[in-house]
Amino acid sequence: MITNTELEHKGNLYPSGLISFEHDQDTINFITKNGVRLQITVLRDNMLRFRYSTNGIFENDFSYAVDEEHPHGFNQLKIEDTETHVLITTEKFKCKIAKDDLRVGMYELDGRPILEDELGFHWEESFEFGGNFVKMSKTSREQENFFGLGDKPTNFNLKGKRMSLWNTDQYAYGKDTVELYKAVPFYMGLHSNLSYGIFFDNTFKTHFDFCHERRNVTSFWADGGEMNYYFIYGPQMADVLTTYTDLTGKPELPPMWALGFHQCKWSYYPESKVKEITSKFRELDFPCDAIYLDIDYMDGFRCFTWNKEYFPDPKRMVKELENDGFKTVAIIDPGIKIDLNYSIFKEGLENDYFCRRADGPYMRGKVWPGECYFPDFTNPEVREWWSGLYRELIGEIGVKGVWNDMNEPAVMEVPGKTFPFDVRHDYDGHPCSHRKAHNVYGMQMAKATYEGVKRFNFPKRPFIITRANYSGGQRYTSTWTGDNIASWEHLWLANVQIQRLCMSGMSFAGSDIGGFAEQPSGELYTRWLQLGVFHPFCRVHSSGDHGEQEPWFFGEEVLDISRKYVELRYQLLPYLYTTFYKYVAEGVPILKPLVYHDQEDVQTHYRADEFIFGNHILVCPIQEPNVQGRRMYIPRGKWYNFWNDKPVSGGREMWVDAPLDTIPVFIKEGAIIPKYPVQQYVDEKKLEQISLDIYYKLGKENSEFYEDSHDGYEYRQGIFSLRTFKLTGKTDEIILQQHKSGKYSAPYTTFKLKFHGLPFQIKKAFFENEEVPLKELQFDKDENTMIVNKDFSEIHLVG
Ligand code: GLC
Repeated sequence: MITNTELEHKGNLYPSGLISFEHDQDTINFITKNGVRLQITVLRDNMLRFRYSTNGIFENDFSYAVDEEHPHGFNQLKIEDTETHVLITTEKFKCKIAKDDLRVGMYELDGRPILEDELGFHWEESFEFGGNFVKMSKTSREQENFFGLGDKPTNFNLKGKRMSLWNTDQYAYGKDTVELYKAVPFYMGLHSNLSYGIFFDNTFKTHFDFCHERRNVTSFWADGGEMNYYFIYGPQMADVLTTYTDLTGKPELPPMWALGFHQCKWSYYPESKVKEITSKFRELDFPCDAIYLDIDYMDGFRCFTWNKEYFPDPKRMVKELENDGFKTVAIIDPGIKIDLNYSIFKEGLENDYFCRRADGPYMRGKVWPGECYFPDFTNPEVREWWSGLYRELIGEIGVKGVWNDMNEPAVMEVPGKTFPFDVRHDYDGHPCSHRKAHNVYGMQMAKATYEGVKRFNFPKRPFIITRANYSGGQRYTSTWTGDNIASWEHLWLANVQIQRLCMSGMSFAGSDIGGFAEQPSGELYTRWLQLGVFHPFCRVHSSGDHGEQEPWFFGEEVLDISRKYVELRYQLLPYLYTTFYKYVAEGVPILKPLVYHDQEDVQTHYRADEFIFGNHILVCPIQEPNVQGRRMYIPRGKWYNFWNDKPVSGGREMWVDAPLDTIPVFIKEGAIIPKYPVQQYVDEKKLEQISLDIYYKLGKENSEFYEDSHDGYEYRQGIFSLRTFKLTGKTDEIILQQHKSGKYSAPYTTFKLKFHGLPFQIKKAFFENEEVPLKELQFDKDENTMIVNKDFSEIHLVG
């Protein structure tokens, strides 16, 4: 510990505030005259953590969000004590703390300001509950814009908005609804081509104001707990987001089938109805990997039971569905029916696993089963119990995925739609009230579910989907955007919400395609599905109250168009899987909003319709009825129209045709896109050959292609294959180089190369520098295709 003793003893050295500051290797502590303590921890060259206490005492340091294994450590750190400031300098930026009032400023190494405190830390005592409302305000710069905050159904750019985070069941929510199902207290600011992130790790209700109240001030505050936030520096958004995702964690790879098309409804029952639906998919050659059982499969909505009248032999049914290529996903809600003849209720009661009110009685609330008690998922022993409950559903019956719902937690017919504030929680050994545990309740339920499904499905991978979540919950589960409406506005919202979730570390997300409440027209359904196939999670779901939502319900034309898009998703599975791998390995978001893709181009700062799917595919949904096309922004660089290979130059808006069977899609020049043949479900067929679509570029571009056995954990032992392709295009030549790592050997031996946009006729081919006759490559000059060994290292084609 390097203690500045002189300062400690002569506290009045600092006229207005600071009594002492001391630091060790990575932590700096400041104490002021009025008892405020600020602790700054240097976690990485681009990340500092700030904690403030108003009386010098910190709470026990515990976080559900932070991944215990997050990488930390820095290359460079200098701490300087000047007359007026303490200065922290890392390899990436500087932080200046004023000695008179503890105001903090973050600066580029060249001195340009990134983010400066306005009032900085301040607080207000909470007389009703104890503790403080803790607040932070920052000065916002001209032209500054804001992005993030999870699933908020509002403009993508948050400038001018005030939002709060309190997980809420919002049936048929609308645009600008302030509180939704998830709490992700993380946002990114961007100005002067510099981006930074703030992660306010506080699970109480939190609030964010982005220049709403005052034009040049951004603030965030919480109804309790500590002012505990992380500052992450870019300057690129990609640096900020991947650092945030490193901190709060990344998921494992899902089984590939989870990336296929899923069909859901509230509810498919009895068994004959489920089979009728799945058979119809096969009969119509409409690819589908998963079928969902909503609450009616249970006996009186008792979790982990079956209605034996509707489903007399679930194990047989699940097996038969599996033989037909369908994975069964079943819903599990948190509310446990009060019923002494129900073994799970009895177990929970006997072991004291249910949440209690402050004065002792159990927390009682109404959900689908009627009056329920609710497990305290913030208690590790309860989570362990809950995980074990999946033994039969997963281990014996063979259900492959679990859908956790109503876990905000939702309670019916009460003000606030959730638990009262006084309900007690264990919070992993840090007992607290519901005010603190509310926003993590759903996340901890999903965690317990993940552990159970993983245990009983092992050595296969688990698949979990949850409605409520908190930062870090992406480690355990995928998510969807809840009870939306079959309207054009909600199609717009779905696009914004999924991009926002991707920018908030939660990429594995989708919306209820077609809308949950109300009935879409065939046109709306088609347009929504065209977008949905480009979302990381792709599921049709509806409440079933207003008609059917299977793709055949809207007539032949809609069916054919829908099939074409779902087939395209199945063709693009290796591309999507590679993108998922980048998310799992590095935290790179699966969808890249244009501002993330090119923050330097200010045109992107207010754009939210267009996005990049993976690295190389630009998509722009049609969000209005009766249109034959739209104007859209093409980001800088050159792109090919996916539908006709026509090249376009970006950095401008243009009109694109989009009759009902077309969604505007463009491919970045130089991209190499791996494609599977169409299958009715993942691994239906043994792969004989796969395609690489190669888009010519004058210059260089890299692409990646990740593969493994699509399920299981062998990939963690190095049984995967990661191919990096380097494309170099010249006026009459194209060179493809391949580097492969990993020990997985795919079942096929050849790639079918298809060239797009080549400005010359291929006349000669060289493999590893030796000429090979084009005939041997089955070269088709009209199609511009050829067949090559998948393990080539260099191909050189000359015009
Ligand atoms: C909730 C869910 C919805 C589900 C329904 C019945 O409204 O959001 O997806 O179908 O409950 O379980």
